[in-house]
Amino acid sequence: METTAASRFPDRPQFSGFMKPCRVEGNVEHLEVLGEIPKNIDGTFYRVMPDPQLPPYIQDDPWFNGDGNISAFKIKDGKYRNKFTDAVEFKVRSTANTNVVFFNGQLLALKEDSPPYALDPTTLETKGLHTFGGLLSSLTFTAHPKFDPKTGEMICFGYEAKGDGTPDICYYNVTPAGEFSQTLWLVAPVVAMIHDFAVTDNWVLFPLIPQLCDIDRLKQGGEHWQWSADTPFYVGLLPRRGAIPSDVKWFQYKNSFPGHTANAYEDDEGQVVFDVGLSEKNVFFWWPDSQGNAPAPSSIHSQLTRFIINPRSNNLELDYPEVLHSGNSEFYRIDDRFATRKYRHCFFNSMIPELGTDFPKIAPKLGGGYPLYNSLTHYDIMTGNSDVYCPGTTHMVQEPVFIPRKGSTEEADGYILVLVNNYDTMNSELHLLDTKSFERPQAVILLPLRLRQGLHGNWVDADDLRSSGEWPERVVTGTDD
Ligand SMILES: [Fe+2]
Repeated sequence: METTAASRFPDRPQFSGFMKPCRVEGNVEHLEVLGEIPKNIDGTFYRVMPDPQLPPYIQDDPWFNGDGNISAFKIKDGKYRNKFTDAVEFKVRSTANTNVVFFNGQLLALKEDSPPYALDPTTLETKGLHTFGGLLSSLTFTAHPKFDPKTGEMICFGYEAKGDGTPDICYYNVTPAGEFSQTLWLVAPVVAMIHDFAVTDNWVLFPLIPQLCDIDRLKQGGEHWQWSADTPFYVGLLPRRGAIPSDVKWFQYKNSFPGHTANAYEDDEGQVVFDVGLSEKNVFFWWPDSQGNAPAPSSIHSQLTRFIINPRSNNLELDYPEVLHSGNSEFYRIDDRFATRKYRHCFFNSMIPELGTDFPKIAPKLGGGYPLYNSLTHYDIMTGNSDVYCPGTTHMVQEPVFIPRKGSTEEADGYILVLVNNYDTMNSELHLLDTKSFERPQAVILLPLRLRQGLHGNWVDADDLRSSGEWPERVVTGTDD
């Protein structure tokens, strides 16, 4: 293929230091382990990072525009194995670089502007675009589908679902057997980014980030997204099942930036409890407002915040939320067996300057353009107690995943696995923590390579991988218009 692409990456923070593109695929086995991996952990941690294959056409391209590069970390019998490969063939614009989930026997790499890519869960070979047997009627698919642990359903949506600049949201439910049980088209009050969402037993919530798309600006070569300080933070509340488009209620709160969802559920009074990372400033500072204004990255502070929404209320102004945890945090994860229901434990990335991180030492190697977190916090929402894990003075953490302890059904009883950037060795490490003794690692697995900052991943137990389902050829659709 002919190419006119530049042969060097721009001299920018997002392409240097630890963020220098890796552009390697391979397989490493029998890695060094400090400590001991419990023998009863058996499964795979899949995660994805943006990793540009080629220098970008845009010099100051956001760091997360890279091609999706998937890692699979397999743990079995107290041993560790790594296999990763670049996942994407360039058939559509998707770089499939945001999340990787396992559902109905399919490993799906996701980016919210396109349908998923299916991968072989063992070899990570790209199978191709996945349209759920042709049933996916939206052009886009969220990178944050939700999974109901009781029903086994996947609950998902696409925004800009009829193309760039369209206000349409397509909401759908997929049964554990892969059948679309419901498809519903909605119209959002503004064409906004909807990165994450939330699901309870009976409700679905769509938080709109006040980053707006103007199709004319886009056609004239402008950025897809522009921060709008005049736009409230809208939350669309929709009955999860059997809704019609006019059932959606657009609640609103003052202009602010909703980040990732921790969880949502209904309390005893039937009110919807929605726990989300919230910042008063534009977290996506690289997409400023129409005047070019953007906050300094160091001034952005996201907190774990709780909104309580009465679905029956006709007052669409949301009450001031409760700040559950005041620290600077993001990438909230829970024991996924408690998704959509009342829960108590939350694990997340935190930035705690007092932990002794050697910022002068690591600063020249950081690479830039992404939020940094030097610790993991295990937050007990009931007691307000925080356990903090600091991986080291030259380390930063990526998103954690929770692994349930074999045989235990107690919430949050198990392990946390997290990819750690070590700026001293300039290699990556996996740190395994027992949630009962969170402040010291159970094991540290040393990788002989550097993996860039990634976005999301998930743990798949070996038993679930073995019980892979088949995707139906053609199934009955819901109320698709
Ligand atoms: Fe995300």
